[in-house]
Amino acid sequence: MEYKEISTEVLIIGQGAAGLRTAIELTREGVRCLVLSKRAHGDAHTKWAAGGINASLANLDDEDTWAIHAADTLREGQFLCDPRAVELLAKKAPDRVKELQNWGCDFSTTEEGKINQRYFGAQSFRRTCFVGDRTGEAMLQTLVKKSEEMEIPTKVNTYITRLLIREEKAVGAIGFDMETGEKLVFKAKTVVLACGGFASIYNRSSSRSDENTADNVGLAYEAGATLRDMELVQFHPTGMIKPDDMKGRLVSEAVRGEGGHLLNKDKKRFMENYSPEKMELDARDVVARAIFKEIVAGRGTEDGGVWLDISHKDADFIKERLPKLYARFSEYHIDITKDPVEVAPTSHYAMGGLKVDFETGETSVKRLYAVGEATAGIHGANRLGGNSLAETVVFGQLTGAHLAKIINSMETNEVEENLIQDSFEKVAVTINALGSQDTKKLIGKVGDLLWEHAGIIRNPGSLKNGLDNLKMLIQNKNGVQSKELLGTPEDWENASNLSFILLAAEAVLKGALKRDESRGAHYRDDATEKKEEWKKNICYKKEGDSMKLFTEEIPEIPEAILKALKEKYSLNYHHLE
Ligand code: FUM
Repeated sequence: MEYKEISTEVLIIGQGAAGLRTAIELTREGVRCLVLSKRAHGDAHTKWAAGGINASLANLDDEDTWAIHAADTLREGQFLCDPRAVELLAKKAPDRVKELQNWGCDFSTTEEGKINQRYFGAQSFRRTCFVGDRTGEAMLQTLVKKSEEMEIPTKVNTYITRLLIREEKAVGAIGFDMETGEKLVFKAKTVVLACGGFASIYNRSSSRSDENTADNVGLAYEAGATLRDMELVQFHPTGMIKPDDMKGRLVSEAVRGEGGHLLNKDKKRFMENYSPEKMELDARDVVARAIFKEIVAGRGTEDGGVWLDISHKDADFIKERLPKLYARFSEYHIDITKDPVEVAPTSHYAMGGLKVDFETGETSVKRLYAVGEATAGIHGANRLGGNSLAETVVFGQLTGAHLAKIINSMETNEVEENLIQDSFEKVAVTINALGSQDTKKLIGKVGDLLWEHAGIIRNPGSLKNGLDNLKMLIQNKNGVQSKELLGTPEDWENASNLSFILLAAEAVLKGALKRDESRGAHYRDDATEKKEEWKKNICYKKEGDSMKLFTEEIPEIPEAILKALKEKYSLNYHHLE
């Protein structure tokens, strides 16, 4: 097989905020890196993250501290988070936010010129810094501009199909150019996965259908890395219902953070029945389940949603705080300053992903690192809104700094031709076998299956059926056998997406079956309470041809966070009214 070869020191797969922040740190320290992306530069999923980034700046509520931020994160993560990672996140987020502002990110400011902060779900104080309702987009633009000023090399339209692993170490990756079909080999001293998560394996998702398709899971699992928390998928309470091509797209939590109300078809604020203290701003799992229950009980709208209404607020205030949503709904002839919008829960974020050591970013495979949503461990069973943008820049910076320190002590990797050819052949066998079917249709079927069997409310019988149905889909992997890639680059992309998605779906279903309790976003109708014995993580690893599941204990919570937890801070929704 012929290919183009490209060498670098650090290969970064993914150019969202996490990948770019890693690259900026490496470049600042003089390390050569290359950032790969499937899409155009600056068009990553980060730009769909809307409502804000958490940092305990205490600009509005001066009681707030990093320890209370960490306590909120652990409590709402239902104590499945890695406490040391949460400590790092909460301690370092303020510096990363100020740095973004210094680099030109136009955060909303108070009259005194401080970064403004809004309420976000289940957080004790106003902690979420924002740029209207386009925070991720503004952050990404800032990072893109910075990386262009630093002349960081990037390569777009690049699909990575497999990591190159030699003597249990990551030494590069192979893939293809999505436009020309040219085969590509990347050789590197080390590889960083910054390729997002797997929320869009569900067929109603806040991600676009060709992003967050489980590249992290597919690439790392085949390389022998340990995954964790795969059963924990966040359903955002408020996704769009209409039009069809926008189904599932986010209606930011900022609407509720700025005082929006959720109403059922009888125009009743139903959160009074589910969470009278925190109301619409309770944790996402609580609000998503409440909406789901209203709909199932027949109190939803005709189109299967509920109403989200902020029209009681001043029109200028709405346009200033939610300019993007105002503009987006205007396109569909809905004026959010006057009318409610219809919403329903949507798959939004994968709490699961690669197990890493957060101080370094290293996975269980040597020289393979991961940052951002590709990882698991910070958010436990339920992520706080605003913590994902924080994780991208905090852990991007830390991993970049760590790699910069050790890179000179790493020898350049030998990558034998045999390894390259063998890897291309393995990919071709998988892609050809799947690619002889209608892969897009199969991806849709997996998405339906997951909503039906591993959705907001789960049940062991249904999870088992889901696994059986998935096995039947997997058994169809018996198409063309050829070691040469057949078809077009688009066929390869779809077939490779399908192979990654099948793995992630299997892990979600198996983990959800194993965890026979309810905790955060994982809710089982046969075991509706948390169980002390399940205060641990489920890990997933490839063993031969099977997926092995095992559990790991959670490390101790640091003293300062324990103290903040004991002080029982909590959001009081009524401050908003
Ligand atoms: O609703 C939102 O704006 C989402 C933010 C997040 O997931 O962090």
